[in-house]
Amino acid sequence: MREYIENLRKELHQHNYRYYILNQPTLTDKEFDDKLRELQDLESGYPEFYDPNSPTQRVGSDSTGSFEQAVHTYPMLSLGNTYSFEEVGDFYQRLLKSLQEPFELVCELKYDGTSISLIYENGVLVRAVTRGDGVKGDVVTANVKTIRSIPLQLQGDSYPDSFEIRGEILMPWDVFDQLNKTREEQEEPLFANPRNAGSGTLKLQNSSEVASRRLDSYLYSVLGEELGFQTHYESLMQARSWGFKVSDAIRVCSTLDEVYEFIQYWDVERKRLPVATDGIVIKVNSFEQREELGYTAKSPRWAIAYKYQAEKALTRLLSVSFQVGRTGAVTPVANLEPVLLSGTIVKRASLHNADIIETLDLHIGDSVYVEKGGEIIPKITAVATEFRNPEGEKVRFITECPECGATLIRNENEAAHYCPDEWNCPPQIRGKIEHFVSRKAMNIDGLGSETVQLLYANGLLKSVADIYSLKVATLSSLERLGVKSAQNICNSIQQSKEISFERLIFALGIRYVGETVAKKLASAFRTIDDLERASFEELIEVDEIGERIATSVISYFATPANKQLVESLKQSGLQMSLNDSSPEALSSVLEGKSVVISGSFTHHSRDEYKKMIEQHGGKNVGSVSSKTSFILAGEKIGPEKLKKAAALGIEMVTEEEFLRMIGQSLPSTPPIMGTLF
Ligand code: IVH
Repeated sequence: MREYIENLRKELHQHNYRYYILNQPTLTDKEFDDKLRELQDLESGYPEFYDPNSPTQRVGSDSTGSFEQAVHTYPMLSLGNTYSFEEVGDFYQRLLKSLQEPFELVCELKYDGTSISLIYENGVLVRAVTRGDGVKGDVVTANVKTIRSIPLQLQGDSYPDSFEIRGEILMPWDVFDQLNKTREEQEEPLFANPRNAGSGTLKLQNSSEVASRRLDSYLYSVLGEELGFQTHYESLMQARSWGFKVSDAIRVCSTLDEVYEFIQYWDVERKRLPVATDGIVIKVNSFEQREELGYTAKSPRWAIAYKYQAEKALTRLLSVSFQVGRTGAVTPVANLEPVLLSGTIVKRASLHNADIIETLDLHIGDSVYVEKGGEIIPKITAVATEFRNPEGEKVRFITECPECGATLIRNENEAAHYCPDEWNCPPQIRGKIEHFVSRKAMNIDGLGSETVQLLYANGLLKSVADIYSLKVATLSSLERLGVKSAQNICNSIQQSKEISFERLIFALGIRYVGETVAKKLASAFRTIDDLERASFEELIEVDEIGERIATSVISYFATPANKQLVESLKQSGLQMSLNDSSPEALSSVLEGKSVVISGSFTHHSRDEYKKMIEQHGGKNVGSVSSKTSFILAGEKIGPEKLKKAAALGIEMVTEEEFLRMIGQSLPSTPPIMGTLF
């Protein structure tokens, strides 16, 4: 038994890590809760195997170690989960028994996001902290400030001088869909659901990137000393009047039937909401009664969560196919006997990678459970092994590319398999061409995937370079293309020669180089020759370019075929450097200098300073290193940067000194609150 308990603990630790740190859970919430409950039961049955570090002793941690930490004034607990009306009834009976007097319950939606604690002093948001391990969490104030629905300054004057408010940060479905679409185009791993995408966003180091992701929030608990509220409902209504986003889906219930009605009503209606919800939270309304009920080690006795079952269907696995994408990543896809799930017919489900196939121990002909849950792509969550066909062949990940026969590779620490033969593997070649001509890249009209396929099949388009030698006569000789379309294609190809350098870099399809990264590379290196020559160290000095991207750029230009392609595109007359619409050069006083900008400024915005650095021949870099020439230091410069700069002996230059350095006079009156804009 001891071994069993220890294994279960190990397994749960692993799932906690996947859930909170990697944002890649492999269990549903219910499966996790079931396992945790089993462990709890075993631990109480076998107290001799007590372990202070058991997953039952804590609430999990979302801390990534890259943010400053703060201790919560009141620990952030979790709620007991229930999955049936019966368990909700039990909760109600427990309350009746303990309180021995009438009580009200408040029903709310359980928002499926990331919990956050916000501290307000004198009506101003001063700190935002994630749940972390429940006792201390990460300080993410700058990121939270970008969320429009979170007030930076409260309304009216009836708010307490000092209080805390807690709630949930959420990524709306439409933002999530868009984000994943972009990631799919760039063959980056998709976020499994809006919760993971939202919590990942909250942990980004760059708050302007956070701002672009349009997160939202719902607040649901007000905490503090002597706030003067009798009931939770009253505190929420007040919080709403101070400017917080408080849900309309709140009901004060006096009977258990009203609670059940609320649960049933929202089981259907919640699907129309713009954000994800996964259940209902039921809370005692009166603060006095809450105090009387108290807490267990993990959660309050005055509240529980009722979790909706993810919609599931049972169907049969007919076969597994393997798709090869533009970057050679091989994705296994399950072909299923069609089944109705949440209103749509599901025929295929993603199997993600070899590990998942192995964990599920899939066999052809298996009866499998498919779930949609919070995910857009249905997935197989379990096999009904009781119906297993003993003849069914075990599903094995392929070892050779289904398209070109090359032996697949799998990089260390990566879940995906790749086909390495990018120059001979048809879907990779076609994928590269399709990406190159796509709207956000070279924007060549008339070369949709069918036409690319046709030209490829006819030997007219063997690589991206061939695009610029296509002729109207050859194109129109193909059966399916008329002279008019051929002419349009050629015109569009001609026009693409004017497309900017940054879009050309994006069009090359270098792994991990999306639109934003392409822009950064273009403005940092300015010409394709400089980019090609850039060393690893120079690359990672660029704002937002990390080791993964740097390695990918280096390996791209180290490949002779890529060099040849770039050379041939050069010959065709494409834009191989930043053109004159980029900041005009004003002087070279900062020539060869790498400047880090940190803190907030009075006279100009950060972007303006960035432009000035470039205009005077310098380079703006994101992180402090021994190569940094100086730090343009504003107010409230980050403590990490300060520490690092002091350790490396790097000079700090104030705004005023900097402006003098580049020969600019100070604006006579500093703009009021210039740092806010
Ligand atoms: S009240 C003691 N209300 O669910 C915890 N929580 O397991 C009191 N959640 O950590 C929390 N919607 O992140 C509360 N309307 C709601 C909620 C809610 C979502 C989350 C929250 C909490 C978890 C509880």
